[in-house]
Amino acid sequence: MSSPQRAVSLTTPELPRKAVLQAVGRTIDEWGSRNLRALPWRDTRDPWHILVAEVALQQTQAPRVAERYASLTSALSSPTATVELGKGGVIALWSGLGYNARAVRLHAAAEAIVERFSGVVPSSNDDLRSLPGIGPYTAAAIEAFAFERDVAVYDTNVARVMARAVLGAPTTATHGWQVVSAMVPAGSGWSFNQAIIDVGATLCTARNPQCDACPLRRRCAWKRSGALIDPALSTAGTSRPQGRFEGSARQARGRVVERLRQGSATFRQLHDVTGWEDEAKVRAIVVALIDEGLITRHAANYSLG
Ligand code: ADE
Repeated sequence: MSSPQRAVSLTTPELPRKAVLQAVGRTIDEWGSRNLRALPWRDTRDPWHILVAEVALQQTQAPRVAERYASLTSALSSPTATVELGKGGVIALWSGLGYNARAVRLHAAAEAIVERFSGVVPSSNDDLRSLPGIGPYTAAAIEAFAFERDVAVYDTNVARVMARAVLGAPTTATHGWQVVSAMVPAGSGWSFNQAIIDVGATLCTARNPQCDACPLRRRCAWKRSGALIDPALSTAGTSRPQGRFEGSARQARGRVVERLRQGSATFRQLHDVTGWEDEAKVRAIVVALIDEGLITRHAANYSLG
């Protein structure tokens, strides 16, 4: 007679025991107390400066954001100063960070904070998520890093650590977030989240992970399983390789915005910087940039904002 089989789900492995997760959380936090990267947004608890940094960190690597942090927070010192700088000013400042739509949303978030919250960054998760450009991850990051709450932050780095070291299986964002939430040591939300981000960003990297230096090497579920296939590869929330950049619309859009950072320009000048032959394709890009609030047209001239 065969024994009853338990259903096995690839996407939502069972939650490991709370005590085990708490022990893993303490190990990560303890590793962080000795190894945290010195990143400038870690020296402040100013919610607006942290919001600015976290928006930049959504799609830009930490070392690149670190280089720009002082100039960003000096020009965007508060929500009010950001509104006063104007949308075009924020887009101009965003140079080199990529994904310029974030600058538009950051300016809109500053406007919302000034209008709806008297210029003070709100602290509740719901209020934070009501701001343009602030999704569940960024809201949690602001709660943990500005208000030192014991919430879990779940970004691509954390998703990789969950899938590999903790679960040893691909996971969904909902499940992965639930698991990491059970790991946060009481009173250490700030340091634990910074530490797990660093484990993911510096050791448990997408390619060539540095397993020998990892604080979880002895309990890593992926290592212990001996599986050749990386569970992070099919895990929601982990980054995927992007399509080709050379010749892409993303590259041409970036060139148009970069040209306008130097001052207003005519369509012909914008066409020239794209390096594209096809005028209709350039028009489509310009129209899309206008629709997205990144650029405006006054008579024959285009400018930022
Ligand atoms: N990526 C997202 N948030 C981060 C943080 N606070 N530190 C380093 N990298 C990050």
